[in-house]
Amino acid sequence: MRIGILSFKAISKVASKEEVRLKKVAKAKGHTARIFRSGRFQLVYDGTARRLLYDGKLFPKYDVIISRVSVLRDIDLNISIIKQMEMMGIPVINRYTPVIKAKNKLKSMQIMDHYNIPIPKTAVIRSTKFVDLAVKSVGGLPVIIKSPFGSYGVGVTIAESKRGLKSMMDWENTNMYMIQEFVKFSKGKDIRVFVVGGKVVGTMMRSAGRGEFRSNIELGGKGSKVEITEEEKDIAIKAVQALDLEYAGVDILRSKEGPVVLEINANPGFKALEQYTGIDVATPLIDFAIEYAESKKPLFYGNGG
Ligand SMILES: Nc1ncnc2c1ncn2[C@@H]1O[C@H](COP(=O)(O)OP(=O)(O)O)[C@@H](O)[C@H]1O
Ligand SMILES: [Mg+2]
Repeated sequence: MRIGILSFKAISKVASKEEVRLKKVAKAKGHTARIFRSGRFQLVYDGTARRLLYDGKLFPKYDVIISRVSVLRDIDLNISIIKQMEMMGIPVINRYTPVIKAKNKLKSMQIMDHYNIPIPKTAVIRSTKFVDLAVKSVGGLPVIIKSPFGSYGVGVTIAESKRGLKSMMDWENTNMYMIQEFVKFSKGKDIRVFVVGGKVVGTMMRSAGRGEFRSNIELGGKGSKVEITEEEKDIAIKAVQALDLEYAGVDILRSKEGPVVLEINANPGFKALEQYTGIDVATPLIDFAIEYAESKKPLFYGNGG
């Protein structure tokens, strides 16, 4: 098999640890594997079949592409190359539309709520006029305020007072504020559930550092092994299916009322998970990519076909 890993990191930066690890695992299994960099693609619409070029040459025939969308802004534009691959019949995981849904916290909340997947109480407001309503709807202070497009914990803040909350509501030109119930019960811990092809392949507990409520590893959070319940497994799998992703990292908080899904990452890091828990998630991801490619074979026309 020819397995491509599609990296969205700036060309000036090296590929991520995860991208390199996926390539190594695929190669060790005897496959051809290569990391492609999104900035080196060209799209050409000139009435011929040369639509997708890489460094000016026809994009070679690959059996499956694993996308690693790390961009945070103008997602739909930045990942149009994924759409192009899909239109040409190249199997890609994760796909264009599910990635766009997952990168937008508001969109993913809407979908999860629609499918009755438990989420923290959330109110979305566009003006400080509705702060009272929002705080009341999510059960009172303190509350969490976040932007629909944050990542790595950036832009996730806690407000202890309404005055504080109002002063935080000017940081973004989107004027879209997600006010969320602060799930205190979880005590700065959350659970990362790594789902591939509808199965849980790895789990990790993340604990926030001292004086921090956010458990992101990038902010000093520490990982550890954790056993999750059948209910938690079930919720994580349902969340990934609701967004139509082939693989994802689901963040779950243990609230007083039971597990709630915080977010679904369409480009989940797994370096920390593998290091802290010793669980190999790269191998099941590569195995699934191969299985996926095989199931899509009749549809595959390749470049220009
Ligand atoms: N409603 C909440 N209650 C308690 N902790 C939260 C809440 N929302 C976020 N956090 C903490 O902040 C971290 C980052 O929030 P998250 O919504 O996952 O944003 P990001 O996409 O930036 O990681 C979470 O991993 C969790 O530890
Ligand atoms: Mg997160």
